Amino acid sequence: MTPAERIEALRRDIRRHDELYYLQAAPEISDQQFDALMRELRDLEAAHPDLVTPESPTQRVGGRPAEGFATVTHAAAMLSLDNAYNEDELRAFDERVRKGLAADGPVRYVAELKIDGLSIALTYDDGRLVRGATRGDGVLGEDVTTNVRTIRAIPLSLRGAPAGRLEVRGEVYLPKAEFARTNREREAAGEPLFANPRNTAAGAMRNLDPKHVATRGLRAWTYQLVADAAAIPSTHEALLQTLAGWGLPIESHWRVCDGIDAVWAFCRDWADARKDLAFETDGVVVKVDAVADRDRLGMTSKFPRWAIAFKFPAEKVETVLREIRVNIGRTGAATPYAVLEPVFVAGSTISMATLHNAEDIERKDIREGDTVVIEKAGDVIPRVVGPVIREGVARQPSWIMPTACPVCASPLHRDEDEVVWRCGNVSCPARLRRSLEHFAGRGAMNIEGLGEALVDQLVTATLVRDAADLYALTATQLEGLERMGKKSAANLIAEIERSKGNEVWRLLYGLGIRHVGERVAQVLARYFGSVDTIAAQPPAALETVPEVGPVLALAVAEWFSDDANRALVARLAAAGVTTTGPVTATVTPEGPLVGKTFVLTGTLASLSRDEATAKIEALGGRVSGSVSKKTAFVVVGADPGSKAEKAVTLGVPVLEEAAFLALIMAP
Ligand code: IVH
Repeated sequence: MTPAERIEALRRDIRRHDELYYLQAAPEISDQQFDALMRELRDLEAAHPDLVTPESPTQRVGGRPAEGFATVTHAAAMLSLDNAYNEDELRAFDERVRKGLAADGPVRYVAELKIDGLSIALTYDDGRLVRGATRGDGVLGEDVTTNVRTIRAIPLSLRGAPAGRLEVRGEVYLPKAEFARTNREREAAGEPLFANPRNTAAGAMRNLDPKHVATRGLRAWTYQLVADAAAIPSTHEALLQTLAGWGLPIESHWRVCDGIDAVWAFCRDWADARKDLAFETDGVVVKVDAVADRDRLGMTSKFPRWAIAFKFPAEKVETVLREIRVNIGRTGAATPYAVLEPVFVAGSTISMATLHNAEDIERKDIREGDTVVIEKAGDVIPRVVGPVIREGVARQPSWIMPTACPVCASPLHRDEDEVVWRCGNVSCPARLRRSLEHFAGRGAMNIEGLGEALVDQLVTATLVRDAADLYALTATQLEGLERMGKKSAANLIAEIERSKGNEVWRLLYGLGIRHVGERVAQVLARYFGSVDTIAAQPPAALETVPEVGPVLALAVAEWFSDDANRALVARLAAAGVTTTGPVTATVTPEGPLVGKTFVLTGTLASLSRDEATAKIEALGGRVSGSVSKKTAFVVVGADPGSKAEKAVTLGVPVLEEAAFLALIMAP
């Protein structure tokens, strides 16, 4: 056997054992035997570097940590599903399907477990894995190829798939056991625990270091194929078999159901049986089996009409409410929460649950010391449903909302039309902590290592009084803090330094202006370019920006009219934090829509005005506010304005949402 042949044989063997282990849960060899195969392959490849290919199992973890993830455009929008929360809603779905198909008898469905992970799109070119992308907003996702390659359930090459490009979609998830292991390790390291497997998996996928991702134990199941119509089997059942045949991981408990009764039986069975599965599932996805029927049913503006997600009911448990405490948020909002006797529910142990607001506590008559019912659905924050009242059991007096902030003792106040009580002290240490956590958070300045515990220390030690102070921190100061070695201190300083170069929207979002989420921050930054320009706009000017309504415009203008806020921005800029950037999104001049002007009117269901604009611009097109003869297309969403009529009078083609999506999604 030549080295090339031995290498090939080893790769085939390793893939087979990966499949036995990850896809079929039926390993034939021990971990040691598997490692020996890997070692032999690695040695042979080291001796024959010319024989190394990207599809070799030795190449799963490669490269250095990335700077960030590139944005990718999905071949077709990644839709989400409509939900059914009970039998009636499930049966109503079946009614709609039967009506849509004018079916007399039962419809054939495939029921699959709904994997509680994060959706992933895998692109294969001529059978080779070339890209893995997250769902993102459904239209634009993040390129996480290097991380996806570390997941051994996902084949780097497909067996017998057709030539050309195809995209396989599915779910990346973390098995329950791996989740437990991760949290045990975090607990031992004094790190905050992850809330559930889904968040942990999502966090791992966004890690920039593939070596780290490889250790997390992520897995995947696939269930969808996006390819030329000719390459798609005529039923979902056949599709699942085809995908499995190519070596892709298919969750084995799916079932063909003739009619909705069989589907309902499947849902009922799994509502309970899911506890014994190795992974979390939060429901059942019900899909019309025949692809031709799916095409006839089509989609609403948001969801396919041929599928629905039945959600398992929230799990409920009883426990004792030890104490009601009040948390002070970034905006000063005082939110009561329950400190509980720890209890295991829906995949994790919880010791806290939200109580919403003082009115809610009063209405439900929840008191300290009560036995309470806790409800938790999937990754939703657990909530206290209400007390379990037992005759003859004495209760503590009704709980009363404190009148002073539990942290700074300033009086709490409440606006007439609000239910929320607030601490009005802008320097309240609790508010400061939350603001800093927000500023440093993933979605904002993304300063890795600056989490809750460290923020707490920095504020307590009065090393930091606002976000600008972060940029004056020195390694020596940090080394004086608990659990801070020389290396961590240096890393954090480097991270803080790196954050100076962030895109402007991150800073804008990090400032914590009311109503300014990540999306709006991006829109504003792109439209105006710099923070100073935004700060100089009166509300009326801000309102002219697509997606910016009067409430938001006012909130932004008010925030910048405050001298203290302006001073903060000035200090951040003086510290070297980037506050200016390019004014519009980059336009690809060679895109398929070059020279085409679009006008958007009405509300699109699957993407915002700005997302639509970004898509058009990314493909080389332009978006204008008014219709003329030169307009290429008018895109009409729900409740369109007069622009739709004008298009008709001028003979400009009108695109409804589905047609527009098809146009911008065309590969
Ligand atoms: S099918 C157009 N099947 O659930 C239909 N989705 O709530 C595409 N999910 O975004 C989805 N398990 O991330 C489908 N067996 C399954 C699934 C599944 C989990 C996720 C998926 C989707 C979300 C919709």
